[in-house]
Amino acid sequence: MLGGKNILLGITGGIAAYKTTFLVRLLIKAGANVKVVLTESASYFVSPLTLATLSKNPAVTAFVKEEGSETDWNNHVDLGLWADMMIIAPATANTMSKMATGNTDNLLTAVYLSAKCPVFFAPAMDLDMYQHPATKTSINTLLSYGNIMIPPTSGELASGLHGEGRMAEPEEIIDFVKGYLLKGLPLKDKKVVITAGPTYEAIDPVRFIGNHSTGQMGYELAKVAANLGAEVILVSGPTNQTIAHDSIKVVGVVSADDMYEVAHEHFNTCDIMIAAAAVADYKPKTVATQKIKKKEDNLTLELVKNRDILKSLGECKTGQFLVGFALETENELENAKGKLERKHLDAIVLNSLNDDGAGFASNTNKITFLDKNSRIKAFQLKTKAEVAEDILNEIIIRLNA
Ligand code: CTP
Repeated sequence: MLGGKNILLGITGGIAAYKTTFLVRLLIKAGANVKVVLTESASYFVSPLTLATLSKNPAVTAFVKEEGSETDWNNHVDLGLWADMMIIAPATANTMSKMATGNTDNLLTAVYLSAKCPVFFAPAMDLDMYQHPATKTSINTLLSYGNIMIPPTSGELASGLHGEGRMAEPEEIIDFVKGYLLKGLPLKDKKVVITAGPTYEAIDPVRFIGNHSTGQMGYELAKVAANLGAEVILVSGPTNQTIAHDSIKVVGVVSADDMYEVAHEHFNTCDIMIAAAAVADYKPKTVATQKIKKKEDNLTLELVKNRDILKSLGECKTGQFLVGFALETENELENAKGKLERKHLDAIVLNSLNDDGAGFASNTNKITFLDKNSRIKAFQLKTKAEVAEDILNEIIIRLNA
């Protein structure tokens, strides 16, 4: 969820600043791009060099750069515009007061005033400072500006006192920010199961029947669904695709029978099921236990039909939104409609092999989305990532109808 996000971390001068090294590490681990701005007093608690090393970006404190820098000043406006979100942690009483009154006597508060993105602040101070009406006024003013407070926790404070004022732990800050991002996402609290890639049907211990599916379409769908807030189970046949997302669990399978079992295991508890896999229609009737030797001039393999995973899901559907794919070469719309009805689908994504740029081998796809109420929407040739967005958009429109 934080992957690829530009996060500006503002650190102010409180003892909790030492925890921000862990916060930077967690943000980087989550795939975010991190830049750090510190107040001068923060730099007494935590070293800019440590933060720069962990964030892989300069950690800056002043408007004017040191000698030898590319430009001679740190542009607060550019930093503010770069950020997708700003987190000020720890936020001291002093900095919150400056933020509330628009005082820009340091780089951090100038960046804050320039930022157009959501700004989170995590107060940290001693018990009595936190209780003081002046601090409460600053906090209320910041909230009234639309800033988001990551509340402090209670516990032992650096002064030895016990009470409210401890900065939230780095893990709690990350969870808080993720929770905020999830709110308002259309697939929040939804479970999506996606099948992807080919299946391999064993002939003997070293050979199989397979196909050229790369799995890319299914993986793009998983990414988009997860970014829209869903918890995703990606049931993947053998592919070279990789994916790393907190909300995506990849379950690797090999054969159609494996895929059948895993898809059914998760189907009962899902809200949306998308079958994007290129499942082998047939498998060898028997699998040789030893490698088949090339003794004869001819070899005949007897194949039997695989179970149709999608059709079987359609038969035990309760309230899930079930989507299939159809790859057609002729009578495309009619064939796709036939599949939609036979398999009890809510919608089907039609690819025509007559369209250039559609199908397995390319990065692009050209689809037509058909639903059970005969609503049809044809799309232009697009990248598979864009196609995934279109498909999930069509599904969400129907879920909310
Ligand atoms: N599918 C499945 N299990 C199978 C076969 C297909 O789940 N054993 C799913 C695919 O993931 C896809 C849709 O069904 O969503 C494709 O339907 P299918 O009837 O197999 O289409 P084609 O493979 O194009 O088959 P046909 O040769 O009958 O047109």
